[in-house]
Amino acid sequence: MLEVVHLSKYFIMRRGLLQYLRREEPKCIRAVDDVSFKIDKGEIVGLVGESGSGKTTLARLILRLLEPTSGKIFFEGQDILSLSNDEMKEIRKKMQIVFQDPYGALNPRMTIQKILEEPLEVHSLYSPKERIDIIKKMLKSVGLNPPELFLDKYPHELSGGQRQRVVISRALILNPSFMVMDEPVSLLDATVRTQILDLILRLKEEFNLTYLFITHDLALARYICNRILVMYRGRIVEMGETEQLISEPLHPYTKMLISAVPVPNPSIKISLPPRASEFVDVFTYQGCRFCARCPEATQLCQREEPPLISLEGGRSVACWKYK
Ligand SMILES: Nc1ncnc2c1ncn2[C@@H]1O[C@H](COP(=O)(O)OP(=O)(O)OP(=O)(O)O)[C@@H](O)[C@H]1O
Ligand SMILES: [Mg+2]
Repeated sequence: MLEVVHLSKYFIMRRGLLQYLRREEPKCIRAVDDVSFKIDKGEIVGLVGESGSGKTTLARLILRLLEPTSGKIFFEGQDILSLSNDEMKEIRKKMQIVFQDPYGALNPRMTIQKILEEPLEVHSLYSPKERIDIIKKMLKSVGLNPPELFLDKYPHELSGGQRQRVVISRALILNPSFMVMDEPVSLLDATVRTQILDLILRLKEEFNLTYLFITHDLALARYICNRILVMYRGRIVEMGETEQLISEPLHPYTKMLISAVPVPNPSIKISLPPRASEFVDVFTYQGCRFCARCPEATQLCQREEPPLISLEGGRSVACWKYK
């Protein structure tokens, strides 16, 4: 369904006057750095990593909301970076994104009906009457029942969970086949979270969807994903099938993430997380970017960045230990 090949996005930071006068070089953040992976139809692939690791940037690149510095993206076999605006408009129907913040995502001046009508209007789909039927059906599907109760409401009249349901229904209304969920439940409280997660899983079956599910919460990724990609400072450092990756993590960063989550299975050994003493300078790093936090780092790790090495069972890890 989706293939990303050597994808990178560098942000050039503007220099302030002082830096300019000192003739410092502009600095560059490698938000996504040489990332490659595939997602098969019907999968739920988790993308985990701490804040600032480049998850949202990667999501925005995939949906072409942001142009990459280099690399390729194939969606259903089509090289989407080479498409014209018109061709891209067609693809946009099939790829949708749900962002973290159900408050910021909805226009406060539009009713729920208007919000859901908008994408249909933009793509000139259906007659006005048919649109209402589709909107009602969609609201029912996401558990906003009876739909008549919600059509004329404004976003501020809904709870956080209800808003996220509206955001999800808006993403679904064009009948997409692939959805990126960018931390869809991280701002919701615990009980609502579970409900929305169950909804997301149910909709996947009902609408035959494929998900890229972004979260910084490994326990959540374990609950919902078939496969997990672990991202650190712009790079995929490990990927593999969920249970394998969690019961037997290979990369020291993945181990650290797992030891930070309470694990209900006593057969899984927990080691204490290493202390984050100093951080790699994001602008000038050479070598492995996890080096400064890694309890197992060697001189090679300081000198050279490890490539993503493929191992048995569809697993990959970017760590010199596995060379
Ligand atoms: N438009 C931009 N201009 C400059 N730098 C940016 C821009 N967008 C993102 N960045 C930087 O790129 C890096 C990755 O950011 P990104 O938002 O993708 O991380 P994230 O993994 O989604 O984090 P979070 O978990 O907090 O959402 C960060 O260092 C961020 O400051
Ligand atoms: Mg993000």
